[in-house]
Amino acid sequence: MRIRYQKASLEDKNVGNYADEINRRRTFAIISHPDAGKTTLTEKFLLYGGAINLAGSVKGKATARHAVSDWMEIEKERGISVTSSVLQFEYGGFCINILDTPGHQDFSEDTYRTLMAADSAVMVIDASKGVEAQTRKLFKVCVMRHIPIFTFINKMDRDANDTFELLDDIEKELGIATCPVNWPIGSGKNFKGVYDRESRCVITYSDTEKGTKEGHATRIPVTEEEMLTAQIGAKNRVQLMDEIELLDGASAPYDLAQIQAGDLTPVFFGSALTNFGVEIFLQHFLKMTTTPLARRADIGLIDPVEHDFSAFVFKIQANMNKAHRDRIAFMRICSGRFDVSEEVKHVQGGKVMRLSQPQQIMADERKILSEAYAGDIIGVFDPGIFAIGDTICMPKEEFAYEGIPTFAPEHFARVRQIDTMKRKQFVKGITQIAQEGAIQIFQEFNTGMEEIIVGVVGVLQFDVLKYRLENEYNVEIKLENLPYEHIRWIENKEIDLDKLTGTSDMKKIKDLKGNPLLLFVNQWSIGMTLDRNEGLILSEFGRN
Ligand code: G4P
Repeated sequence: MRIRYQKASLEDKNVGNYADEINRRRTFAIISHPDAGKTTLTEKFLLYGGAINLAGSVKGKATARHAVSDWMEIEKERGISVTSSVLQFEYGGFCINILDTPGHQDFSEDTYRTLMAADSAVMVIDASKGVEAQTRKLFKVCVMRHIPIFTFINKMDRDANDTFELLDDIEKELGIATCPVNWPIGSGKNFKGVYDRESRCVITYSDTEKGTKEGHATRIPVTEEEMLTAQIGAKNRVQLMDEIELLDGASAPYDLAQIQAGDLTPVFFGSALTNFGVEIFLQHFLKMTTTPLARRADIGLIDPVEHDFSAFVFKIQANMNKAHRDRIAFMRICSGRFDVSEEVKHVQGGKVMRLSQPQQIMADERKILSEAYAGDIIGVFDPGIFAIGDTICMPKEEFAYEGIPTFAPEHFARVRQIDTMKRKQFVKGITQIAQEGAIQIFQEFNTGMEEIIVGVVGVLQFDVLKYRLENEYNVEIKLENLPYEHIRWIENKEIDLDKLTGTSDMKKIKDLKGNPLLLFVNQWSIGMTLDRNEGLILSEFGRN
């Protein structure tokens, strides 16, 4: 059975005032370390929104993953980067856009860029593991943007770490204050439910609702001692009362302004697999998260409602269709209403044009759109004119959104073409692929293009590069892995690179614009280099 995503259709609706359309949009990314339960949680959200037709199947999740991974396999076969899909669904009057961030080996710079298009992030953490590597990396990007971060601690139906330790781990590892919205009672076989701090009720756990909408959970006010004892046991009740007291006294108070500034993360506990705590989370989340945020441009902040249509490109994907060498540019609409019949201006190209084949990309479905609103993500056919970070606005206007930073690659290789006669195709191919943002290319500091160093965020991108150069440019290459894991941009331009002294394993390189960068094997070398060069400022993000 294939899962069906009902097409979230904007034009089927009778759209009145478009400020209302914008204000009911919520656009967020889901971040997690692989296997924490991101896919399962997303699917449960879709279930509530009625966007998935599960046909009563409890195996909904496995099926859904199958559908999505089918698409990914096809993409891999073609040797292109894996799509971060966008899912749109309706729930309680909200129009919700979820941006999926690919994990595992599919992790790439695009995963980071996707976060640039979101207004908030949901962080899924495995209750038995706490904060893991990939969460840490993605979290840093959220912090840089000061977007609200909501934490869902998942898999409470399995033995979990101590709840206070889990919160401590988030605070220490990620440097963000936590505010539990609900509190778990036991875990694993002893998981009894959660205590909702706002209503001061216990919501009892039942896994009988697995695969369907939550419905029969019982709510018991904590003041109903007898009833509570009957449901969760005397020992659990006493422990809960102690923990509530501790919590009320010691945890950061709920403060919406701090949440919206990204300084405080509300924490929820649940079990996505058994569908417990998911709808409560969704409801609280929708109350706390923001409408589409204003974005900074060179003329100041652009208000999503007040301003006419504008968007920026956050991702470019080549070869979506094998028959044609096409490219799709993904745009986040930042303000106003997009109307396919109207002309728009591509600011960086200086051209007035119509966006071609605007579509909504949902897993393996494409749907042509005629209109969309601030908060939405659209993909448009790109005849090779768009670059990441470009601005699109109305023809009468001229402004540019703040660029998207370049994120630090973590894997590096020296690349050479096998047939030296094909130098021209090689340089053209690798430069074009770098422009699309799939890879970053660098040169030795004091030489020309002879030596090219490729940097990628996820190792899959090396295969992508090899495959695409062979298939699209007819150039075979050889990749020689380099031991570096860290790259840093030099923030203070006055530094004389020839005089800069680092550790013996540090490497000086430059990007295509001639900006100097440093490669390091480990964190220790970074620290040593900073110590040895007074005033040196290094950054993990490059500016475009
Ligand atoms: P990801 O997208 O973050 O990588 O994680 P995903 O949802 O694919 O979940 C990873 C595994 O964890 C899956 O098991 C999934 O069923 C399980 N899981 C997710 N949420 C929960 C939960 O709340 N409780 C428990 N006990 N398990 C959970 P799998 O065996 O890898 O896949 P499958 O055979 O179940 O499809």
